[in-house]
Amino acid sequence: MRVCRRVCGLHSVRILLSPSVAPRLCGRWISQLHRICSYSTSQEQAPRHSMLRHLTSKIKATGPISVAEYMREVLTNPVTGYYVKNDMLGADGDFITSPEISQIFGELFGIWCISEWMAAGKPKDLQLVEFGPGRGSLASDILRVFSQLKTVLSGAAISVHLVEVSPKLSQVQAQCLTGDQSQVSASENEPAHRTGTTSTGLPISWYRRVDDVPKGFSIFLAHEFFDALPVHKFQKTEKGWREVMVDIDPAAPDGVDKLRFVLLPSPSLASAALTQVDEKRQHVEVCPEGGIMVQQLANRIVEQGGAALIADYGHDGTKTDTFRGFRGHKLHDVLADPGAADLTADVDFSYLRRMAGDLVTCMGPVSQRVFLKNMGIDTRLQVLLRSCADQSTRAQLIQGYDMLMNPQKMGERFQFFALLNHRRLVSPEVGEGMKKRRGMAPLPVAGFSELGLK
Ligand SMILES: C[S@@+](CC[C@H](N)C(=O)[O-])C[C@H]1O[C@@H](n2cnc3c(N)ncnc32)[C@H](O)[C@@H]1O
Repeated sequence: MRVCRRVCGLHSVRILLSPSVAPRLCGRWISQLHRICSYSTSQEQAPRHSMLRHLTSKIKATGPISVAEYMREVLTNPVTGYYVKNDMLGADGDFITSPEISQIFGELFGIWCISEWMAAGKPKDLQLVEFGPGRGSLASDILRVFSQLKTVLSGAAISVHLVEVSPKLSQVQAQCLTGDQSQVSASENEPAHRTGTTSTGLPISWYRRVDDVPKGFSIFLAHEFFDALPVHKFQKTEKGWREVMVDIDPAAPDGVDKLRFVLLPSPSLASAALTQVDEKRQHVEVCPEGGIMVQQLANRIVEQGGAALIADYGHDGTKTDTFRGFRGHKLHDVLADPGAADLTADVDFSYLRRMAGDLVTCMGPVSQRVFLKNMGIDTRLQVLLRSCADQSTRAQLIQGYDMLMNPQKMGERFQFFALLNHRRLVSPEVGEGMKKRRGMAPLPVAGFSELGLK
C-alpha cells in the first residue's frame, strides 16, 4: 500500500492505492498490507529497551503503576515516548487514519469550521485549533478549503494553532503546512514551541498544551486524539471497584523483564474518584485527562466563543475492555515491547458529556457515516469524479469513500461529537462579535443535521 498525492482538477487527491479491503479489528484502522517492521536495527531498538528498563525500575522503586501512568510513559515520555520519537502514520507506519485516506474528509471538516464561524455571526478573529495533528493532512485539507472559500471568509483574521506533544511530528506538520516557513522558538519559555506561516499565508503556531493557545474565538478539532490519552482501568469485584495495575511478571525467566496486569487488593484514590456508584458494567476505562480537556474547551467556548468537534472511535458508555496496541497495522500485546507500538482505548463519549456538564451543549455522538453524509460527502465525491478523467484516480476516490463510509469499515465505528455554546442553538440574538439575527431560527449544526445538499 502506498499513499500518493495527485492533482484532480484544482484538488490534490490523497488516497490509498491498495485495492485490498482493510479488515476492521477492534481498533485503529488496520490494513492487510503488513510492512516489514521498521524497528529492526539494534540502534533503533535501544530506546524501546530503555523504555522497558525505565518502567521496571519505576515499578521496582514504587510498586505497580496504573494503566494510565503506563500509557502516558509509553506514548509521551519526553525522551523515549512512542509519539515523541516516531512518525507512525500511514502505510509504512503502524496505522492509518481517515485524513490520510481521503482529502474529502478534511475538506468536510473545513466546511464545518466555516459553518460554525458563520453561525456565530462571523466574528473578526477565527482561530483554527487542532489537537494531535499527526502529519498535518487534516489541517492542510481544511486550509485548502479556506483558501478556495476566501470570499466567504473575507474579513476574518484567521490563525492556525496546533497542540502537539511530539517534536518529530511537529516537524512533519511544519513541512506539510509551511514548507520551510517555520522556526523553532529560541526559548523554552515561549508558549509556542514553533511558529511560521502556512503555504496559504496564515500565521501558524505549535504548543504543547491547550492553555498556551491564545484566547479568542476558536474552532477546536480533535481527530483520533482523545483515544491516545491515558485511561485508568477498573474491575468490579465482590468487594467493589478495584484498579488494574501494571506490574513486573515474577514468572518471567531470570534476567528477562516482562510485564503483567494485576488487580489492587484495596481501593485506590482513582477507583474511589473515577467510578460511578450506579455503573452496570463489570469493567470500565476512564480517561480523566480527556475529561479535563473537555472542561477546558467548554470553558473557553463559554468565555470566548467557538465550538469543538471531536471525532474518534468510541462508544456512549457501553464498552468495557478496549485498551489495545497497534504495530505494523496489526494488533499488538499492550504490555509487550513497550514503546514499539501505539496504545489506544475507545473514547467514552458519555464520560466526556458528563465532564462538560451544563457549560455547553453537546451534540452526538453520531456515526462517521451519518456525519459525513449530512456534510454532503456524496455531492463532493461526484464533483471530484466529474473533474477527474484518470481512471486510477477515480477508482482511488471511490475506494477512499468506501473506507470512510462503509459500516463494516470506518463508517459506524468512528463517532463525531461536538461542544457548542448554548447561544448557538437557543438564541438568535446574541452578544459581542456576533450579528444580531432577532427572530431567525439558528442555523442547523452541520453534520448533526442534514444540510440539504443534494
Ligand atoms: C493517533 S495520532 C492522530 C493523528 C491525526 N489527528 C490523524 O487523525 O491522522 C495522535 C496524535 O496526537 C498527538 N498526541 C498524543 N498525545 C498527545 C498529548 N498528550 N498532547 C498533545 N498531542 C498528543 C500525537 O503526537 C499524534 O499527533
